Amino acid sequence: MKNIRNFSIIAHVDHGKSTLSDRLIQICGGLSLREMSSQVLDSMDLERERGITIKAQSVMIKYKAKIKTYFLNFIDTPGHVNFSDEVSRSLSACEGALLIVDAAQGVEAQTVANCRNALNLNLKVLPVLNKIDLPNANPEKVSQDIENIIGISMKNSVKCSAKTGFGILELLEQIIKKIPSPSGDINNPLQALVIDSWFDKYLGVVFLIRIKNGYIKIKDRIQVINKKITYQVEKLGILPQKENKKTLLCGEVGWIICGIKNISSIIVGETITSYIKPAQKSLPKFKKLNQKFTLDFFPTHPDQYSYFKDALMKLQLNDTALYYEPDMSKILGLGFRCGFLGLLHLEIIQSRLEREYNISLIVTAPTVGYEIISINGKKVYIDNPSKLPNMNNIKKIREPIAKCNIITPIKYIGNIIKLCVENRGKQKSLVYHQTQIMISYDIPLSELVLNFFDRLKAISSGYASLEYTFKKFKTSKLMKIDIFINSVKIDSLSTVTHKNNVIHIAKLIIKNIKKFMPRHQFDIPIQAKISNTVIARETIKQLRKNVISKCYGGDVSRKKKLLQKQKRGKKKMKNFGSVSIPPEIFSSIIAIN
Ligand code: GTP
Repeated sequence: MKNIRNFSIIAHVDHGKSTLSDRLIQICGGLSLREMSSQVLDSMDLERERGITIKAQSVMIKYKAKIKTYFLNFIDTPGHVNFSDEVSRSLSACEGALLIVDAAQGVEAQTVANCRNALNLNLKVLPVLNKIDLPNANPEKVSQDIENIIGISMKNSVKCSAKTGFGILELLEQIIKKIPSPSGDINNPLQALVIDSWFDKYLGVVFLIRIKNGYIKIKDRIQVINKKITYQVEKLGILPQKENKKTLLCGEVGWIICGIKNISSIIVGETITSYIKPAQKSLPKFKKLNQKFTLDFFPTHPDQYSYFKDALMKLQLNDTALYYEPDMSKILGLGFRCGFLGLLHLEIIQSRLEREYNISLIVTAPTVGYEIISINGKKVYIDNPSKLPNMNNIKKIREPIAKCNIITPIKYIGNIIKLCVENRGKQKSLVYHQTQIMISYDIPLSELVLNFFDRLKAISSGYASLEYTFKKFKTSKLMKIDIFINSVKIDSLSTVTHKNNVIHIAKLIIKNIKKFMPRHQFDIPIQAKISNTVIARETIKQLRKNVISKCYGGDVSRKKKLLQKQKRGKKKMKNFGSVSIPPEIFSSIIAIN
């Protein structure tokens, strides 16, 4: 065990984690070039296309130091705030973390948040200044910022360039010297933390585990502590190699397959032990993040429902931050209420469902969860506006407030304060660190989760960074807007918004629906109501019955074209009784919130 090092690579988005990971693999000669591109880090198509890490990936490499050979298990983690659940899980499997900071860009919000996470778990943090090959790199200033803002010593930091390879050998030496080898005892009963899992079409469920005590071998009978279910280990090994090993020892990170095809019992975060000689205590669980907003997914083709359910189960196995439960809409039928950590998380899950499972979806507007105190004092938590009781029966609505930390160069501070105030933010602190400012605001989560991040990036030319966590529920003047199309309430279009914004938001929703709503053979009223009072209204004027009435004479091709256009339009729509509502209307609401 003395020659094992387990560490995560953490950083703000784009500071170079994946490039550094690839460089470490290449220098240690672990894999061929073909293997590097086909299976190592950022292996999902979506990751390559978007240039971001979505899933944490674990790899073992051998580093031949002067005297000994070391086994380095490291996990490349995502930098985007929407995937911080992956980071927390990865950190729980390690003794150390490399904190990568771009030497030109400096400290950013996720640098601080990820580093605090690692320190809270008592990990040894090794700061690494990356991209020092860049002409505008300023390692001295960035070091100062790290000491001032995060409060860790830069005495043992390493300067490197993941791109050119400069400083990587020095980094490997520091990893060996500074990151402790795993503790634990191979003679104690087995305790292994499940840090990830995924579904393989041929092999069933694969678990990634970190052995904290004892060892595990093929044919062992294992069980999840505090649960009755037992499994038999069929295969095991260490990533990225797919070939089998016979044992996984104390301190190692590896995969096991137990022939599980039923994926309903998710055990990421649980502790595995031996059935014959069980350990009594579970290992500490990692902090699970709560989803920031929920929305409904309905399959466009209702016959895809059970296939869709299976796809969600498989995705959740691989993404414990994804939450879902069955839901039903009078108009859209059976679907699922799903929870996400942010818009990017939603986009990724939606893309994976569409690409990997070929499911086309109707997506409703996202909403945060609210605490409702009714007139008779009962408290309920509601994450779907259509389930909100009548406003007359509600005494208070409490909304979630997030604590936000923004780090920005000084020159953008004016615009950023304006943005926070517009989004009902309350300033908590503002601290100058030479050329950077760290500013803290309490902002309602509903204002944050959708396009706040993009607007912050736009007004700061991409330089300001944001990190936020749930702080508390707070009573607010909120109201529910219901939408009626042709006098029928469309429950999936209901939304909750602040009293001061109701008229504005109601008008926007109605305008948006009008944009997508096709004309029918009769007038269709679209109304926004609060309780029973109409606060905004538009009418879709009736369609002329005969689309080719203007084509006098014999212009057949034009007539055909018009008729085909009408047919295409109709095909695109999903029919609901007498009025056709195109699926775009449900998703279009995302843009206005
Ligand atoms: P996420 O996983 O999405 O958070 O990003 P990341 O931190 O893994 O960053 P990634 O390795 O994808 O690098 C981001 C960009 O920086 C890429 O264009 C890299 O080529 C570039 N880059 C990484 N390291 C260096 C370096 O040492 N020098 C220079 N000049 N560019 C680098």
